[in-house]
Amino acid sequence: MCGIIGFTGNINAKEVLLQGLKALEYRGYDSAGISFFTGTGIKTIKAVGKVAGLVEKTVMSDDDTKCGIGHTRWATHGGVSEVNCHPHHFGKVTLIHNGIIENYKELQEELALEGKEPVSQTDSEIAAMVIDSYYKSDPVSAIKKAVKKLRGAYAFCIMFTDHPGSIYAIRNGSPLVATTTGAGSIIASDMVALIKYSKDYFVLPEHHIAHLTASSINITDLDHNEIEPDMLHVNWDMAAARKGGYEYFMLKEIHEQPEALRNTISPRIKDGMPDFSADGIDDSLFKDINRIIIAACGTAMHAGLIGKNMIEKLSRVPVSVDIASEFRYQDPVIDENTLVITISQSGETADTLAALRLAKERGAKTLSIVNVKGSSIARESDYVLYTHAGPEIAVASTKAYTVQLAAMYLVAFRFAYIKGKITEDKTKEFIKELEKTPGFVEKMLSCDKAIEPISNKLLKTESLFFIGRGLDYALSCEGSIKLKEISYIHSEAYAAGELKHGTISLITDNVPVIALATQEDVFAKMISNIREVRSRGARVIMITGADAQVDAALCDHLITLPPVSDVFAPFGAAIVLQYIAYYTAVARGLNVDQPRNLAKSVTVE
Ligand code: M6R
Repeated sequence: MCGIIGFTGNINAKEVLLQGLKALEYRGYDSAGISFFTGTGIKTIKAVGKVAGLVEKTVMSDDDTKCGIGHTRWATHGGVSEVNCHPHHFGKVTLIHNGIIENYKELQEELALEGKEPVSQTDSEIAAMVIDSYYKSDPVSAIKKAVKKLRGAYAFCIMFTDHPGSIYAIRNGSPLVATTTGAGSIIASDMVALIKYSKDYFVLPEHHIAHLTASSINITDLDHNEIEPDMLHVNWDMAAARKGGYEYFMLKEIHEQPEALRNTISPRIKDGMPDFSADGIDDSLFKDINRIIIAACGTAMHAGLIGKNMIEKLSRVPVSVDIASEFRYQDPVIDENTLVITISQSGETADTLAALRLAKERGAKTLSIVNVKGSSIARESDYVLYTHAGPEIAVASTKAYTVQLAAMYLVAFRFAYIKGKITEDKTKEFIKELEKTPGFVEKMLSCDKAIEPISNKLLKTESLFFIGRGLDYALSCEGSIKLKEISYIHSEAYAAGELKHGTISLITDNVPVIALATQEDVFAKMISNIREVRSRGARVIMITGADAQVDAALCDHLITLPPVSDVFAPFGAAIVLQYIAYYTAVARGLNVDQPRNLAKSVTVE
C-alpha cells in the first residue's frame, strides 16, 4: 500500500531511488514520483502510471544528486493524478507518505484559518503542511510537534529545503526498514529495496525519528534519547527479488514452492517430531489452550480455514476462523486459555495487526505465522513461527499460502500430540508425510501443460464456480480469490452441498464449475453434487485424487493428483488452482503481477 524509499550517500541517488521504486512497485502502482536535492534546491519529477513512466521522465533530467526520496502510490485519498502523486511540498517541507491520516479534514480546516490551502486532494499533503507549520529550523522538533496532531497510520520520509543531504523518517503502523552501507544510508517500506546494498537492516521503531546522513542513521525517541536499533539479517539475496527469467513473479513464486516448503518444514523437525524449540515455543504454550481463534485476511485467512480443519480433526479443540477486519470490530469471547493465531505474509496487514492487538488486550495468548522478518505482527505477537518463503513480490499470493499451510499442519500435529489426542507414532507418521510435500509439489509443477489449454478455454468466461467439501471447500475459497484477483473473472466458492440452496440457479449451459473432489470421505457426496451441476449444463473441470474412479461423462476435464494421502492433497490441489488463475490471466493478456486496484500489502483499514 504505497512503497517509499529514501537515500543519501555518495552514489547517484536517482538510480538508487528508481531501482528501489521498481522493486517496491508491487506495493502500489497508480503513480510514482521522486524528489532530490540539486545544487539549487529540491527538484521533483512525477508520473502517472507505472514506475517505468517515471524512469522515462527522469532520464531526461541530468541533475546530479546524492540525496532524495521516492514513492510509488496506491491511491486512498484523491484520484490518480500527477498533483496527487507524491512527493508533496509545502513551504520548506518535501514529504512522502504511506498510510492514512484520519483527521486530515479537521487539520485542513485549521490550516485554512491561517490562509493555507493544499493543491492536491491528499491527506499526505496536509501532513506536509502541518510539519511545515511547526518548522523554524529544527526538523526533529517540527516532526515531533506535528505527529502529536496526526491521527492514523503513517510512514514518512521528509526532506527540509535548508538541510541538504539529510532525510528524516518516522512511522506509526506503516513499515520502514533501514540500513547504512559504504554507499550511504537507505530507508524503505520493505527489504526488497535494500537487499542490493545489504542483508543486514533494522526496523525503525514506531514513534522514533530517524535522521539519515550519508554516513550514519541516528535514531531518537520523542524525548530526544538516542537508541541503538536491533539489527536483523535476511538469508535471501537479490536473485530472490528478481524475476530470474520467468515472465512474471507469480510464475517464479509458484515454482519456488518446493524450496519454500523445505525451508519452512525441515528446521522444525527433531527426531521425527514437530519441534518449535528453535522458534522459542515450548509445549507450555499449548497445554492449557481450550479454544483457538485464527484471524487473517484474504489468502492467509484461507490458509486458516485449512488449519481449522486440521486442528479440530486431530485435537478436538474448537477453532474458529475470523476475517481480521470483522474480528477487530466484534466483541470476541477470549480468555487466557484462548490461543489467537494470526497469519500474514507481510506481517503488516492493518486489520490483522489490529486483530492481534485486540486479542492481546483481551488476555489471549498469541502466535503469528508470518513471512516477513521483523514485521509488526511478528514483533507484537507473543510467539512467531516464520515461514521461510523468501520475498513474495506478485500481488497474488502463492508460495506464502502453501508455507502457511505447512506451518498450520506442524502446529496441528504438535498441538494434538500435546493434548494426548494422537500418539507419538501417529505424529511421526504425519511428519513423514509432511516432509514429502516439497517433492509432491515438485511433481505437481509439471501439470502446467495440462492446465494451460483448460485455462485458454476459460478466456471468455464471465462467471464461474468452485465447489468442494471439507478441505476442498477451503481450497475452493483460495482458488476463487486467485482467479478473481488476476483474471478479473467473477467467481464464487461454494460448499458443494450448499449450492442447491440458491446458487444452483446460476448454473446454466456451459457455466464452468471447478469441482475439487480429493477427499475420500466425501467423494460420493461430491459426485452427486457434480451430477447436479452437470445435469444443468455446467462445464466441469474436476480435480481428484489418484485412486478416484470417475465416470468419463461426469466432467469435461479431469486433473488427477499424484498419489498422496487425503490430508496432504491440499498442497497439490493448490498448485492446480494457482496455475488455473495464472494461465487464465495470461490468456486474457493481463498484467499478472500487478492486477488493477490491488496492492500487495494492505496497511490501511
Ligand atoms: O500480507 P498478508 O498475508 O496479511 O495479506 C493478506 C491478504 O491481503 C493477501 O493474502 C491477499 O488476499 C492476496 N493478494 C491474495 O492473493
